[in-house]
Amino acid sequence: AERYSKDDGDVLVSALPSKLVAGSTNSQRMLRCYQGFWLPESFVPAAIGLHRRFVPRPNDVIIASLPKCGTTWLNALAFATMARRSYPPAGADHPLLRLSPHQCVPFLDALLAGGGREARLDALPSPRLMYTHMPQTMLPRAGGCRVVYICREPKDTAVSLWHFRRSIHPELSFADTFESICGGANPYGPFWDHILGYWRASESGPENVLFLRYEELLRDPAENVRKLARFVGMPFSQAEEEAGVVRGIVELCSLESLKNQEVNRNGYMDGLKFPRKALFRKGVAGDWVNHMTPEMARRMDEIVADKLRATGLTF
Ligand code: A3P
Repeated sequence: AERYSKDDGDVLVSALPSKLVAGSTNSQRMLRCYQGFWLPESFVPAAIGLHRRFVPRPNDVIIASLPKCGTTWLNALAFATMARRSYPPAGADHPLLRLSPHQCVPFLDALLAGGGREARLDALPSPRLMYTHMPQTMLPRAGGCRVVYICREPKDTAVSLWHFRRSIHPELSFADTFESICGGANPYGPFWDHILGYWRASESGPENVLFLRYEELLRDPAENVRKLARFVGMPFSQAEEEAGVVRGIVELCSLESLKNQEVNRNGYMDGLKFPRKALFRKGVAGDWVNHMTPEMARRMDEIVADKLRATGLTF
């Protein structure tokens, strides 16, 4: 197993089963199947690094999600909540007014993927807040760090992913994206195993994993922010409640607010080709009806029902 070290990782990564990301003709968009999950090739060393080199601290908070499930929103909410004593949400100098949420919360997958950027993680003050798309089985076990997972109704996630990827591949068809998701071979898939891993971990250790849903955040963001704050050990005081701190965080992190910040309207995500504005679209539940045929919807619902059967989790 030591052969999977960072230095010789490339050689062995190239021996793992591979597939191209749907609609892609470019080998840079290669997925590799590592421990049952289709990871972007360049992030396989990060999965290995998470086990081998990442040293968790007991008060670490890791945001985990599949792409397009509300990661950006949750990053912003968690950052605003955890940093509220230094940066009150209504403050004119709040970091979220000049930085993208992804610049406020380091991305473990990229930092551990090589290129000597991991030292940034050691330099972060405690409690550290980080995010990942890695499946639960790839997170460090020791250290007891807390994980906040966000999941989203799979049909809406599929639609959101297609829109996002189209920002750099305008020719990408929804049908191709849909097929790859249903087959499990899209980034960080199969989606059902990703969701179930965190669901089970939250059932067996609710003090370690908080399982949130995008639709619930839409329905009652304030209540979910309170839940998040309690979970990370920073509950809102009565005085904060009365001063409207929760409402301030919710407003600061709303889609309208983030979407309109200069930093989120221009430029590209660090190290990626995606324009930042592609992270902020409609932000609603049920948009799948505008893109899926009834057969597609039925097929995906059947996959979900089949994979989640008897788990207690439903969509
Ligand atoms: P839609 O494409 O359905 O609009 P991620 O951050 O994981 O990439 O997820 C992106 C999805 O979250 C997009 O969904 C995006 O519009 C939505 N989103 C981003 N910021 C949001 C916010 N502040 N509030 C609600 N939804 C948000």
